[in-house]
Amino acid sequence: MKLGALTAASITLKPFALFAEENPFKVMSRSDFGKDFLFGTATAAAQIEGAWNEDGKGLSVWDVFSEKEGKIKDGSTNKIACNFYHKYPEDLQLMQDLGFDVFRFSTAWSRILPYGTKHVNQRGIDFYNRIIDATLEKGMQPWLTLYHWDMPQILENQGGWTNRDVVDWFGEYVDICARNFGDRVANWMVFNEPLAFTSLGYLLGTHAPGKIGVKNFLKSSHHTTLCQAEGGRILRSNLSHANIGTTFSASAVETKTQSPKNLKAAKTLDAFLNRMFVEPALGMGYPTEDLALIRNIDKYMLPGDEEKIKFDFNFFGVQNYFRTVAKHSALIPILWANLVKAEKLVEDKETQITEMGWEVSPEGIYRILKQFNAYGKPLYVTENGAAFKDSLNTDGSVHDPLRVKFYQDYLANVLKAKNEGADIRGYLLWTFMDNFEWAEGYGPRFGIVYNDYKTQTRYPKDSALWWKEFLKS
Ligand code: GCO
Repeated sequence: MKLGALTAASITLKPFALFAEENPFKVMSRSDFGKDFLFGTATAAAQIEGAWNEDGKGLSVWDVFSEKEGKIKDGSTNKIACNFYHKYPEDLQLMQDLGFDVFRFSTAWSRILPYGTKHVNQRGIDFYNRIIDATLEKGMQPWLTLYHWDMPQILENQGGWTNRDVVDWFGEYVDICARNFGDRVANWMVFNEPLAFTSLGYLLGTHAPGKIGVKNFLKSSHHTTLCQAEGGRILRSNLSHANIGTTFSASAVETKTQSPKNLKAAKTLDAFLNRMFVEPALGMGYPTEDLALIRNIDKYMLPGDEEKIKFDFNFFGVQNYFRTVAKHSALIPILWANLVKAEKLVEDKETQITEMGWEVSPEGIYRILKQFNAYGKPLYVTENGAAFKDSLNTDGSVHDPLRVKFYQDYLANVLKAKNEGADIRGYLLWTFMDNFEWAEGYGPRFGIVYNDYKTQTRYPKDSALWWKEFLKS
């Protein structure tokens, strides 16, 4: 996710070769993670499906937002995206060929309930049934995210996440999914990164639906926290044995110096980036002490809400891309200037910066996994990956050594945390193929498979081949 970001310092790129004579798996192989550890790819409906108005789908906030002038960097929309709606058999086949165990995808609320509530669109249900069945037929596990940022526009028109009625709207949608897919889907995630869609969508307005202001942020955050737990409860009541989780954006926070002011800034930033949505579910409440920005969130709480925001999840999904470096700012003490841009702070010229402007910081995933492990729940890395400039060669190859190196280094750090006792049970990379990167449009390519958007042809990059070898190892 794109909450600004990061940071300084000292990562040295070691020289490496993709298929060097020296076996790159000598130090790390799949079996080091244990036989039950799962590997997979993660995706999101609005980023890959396309078919925005086919088979009875209603409009989502992204269908509308991406149409607005100046909202998407390259002027694109998500309406066609990767055309996964039609091309899924080929894509799932490729995923199987590469050897993945898990396919993480999200269902689009507006495909299942085009009016947000009440009228179920059977053709939408049929589509996800096809996806689930095809995934299982390929010997992979379907992991379903219920909400990856695409609220039906019709509900947004009534306030979306800022309207407390969303608890009922969302509950109805979750119940329909549980009843229709729960016979075959064993692993569920209620949300994808609540902080991202509430802060970017309702505080900063850079993502759909493009609202701004602290009030919108607090309301939408509290209702999201209620829905997070309520979604868990509805899944549990329908599916007593399901593995129920939810995912969080997470980023290890460091400080530029150890001065008390910077340390305080780091605490603030950590509360915002890593604690705000997870701790209420655990019964720890909101971290208001450390995060002045949300001090007024209790204005939107009703009696009994402290209980309602708790749910005993089976697992947490940790999604990590970079670390952050906090720095105190006298001008904006609350938060914003505490986020420091990578490019400005990078002192070591060898530090790699991705196409998103994010610092490659493999040890950051180690630190944040250790931090989340302290909450005492099983963890899955449900997203991790990088966008680099890729180019398609005439022979269909795409050489992406930086991405291969990224995966090698991040995986080594996941393994390190696991070997030190963190209860990490799986790793889902972001992402299978290049896709619609929200407000960034189609510029940043995060896939291990290159997508030629003009022809919708898929070309496995070297990183996909690396994964294939790794998964066999
Ligand atoms: C997020 C989302 C993904 C993004 C990915 C890269 O974390 O922002 O879950 O949809 O595409 O993170 O930015």
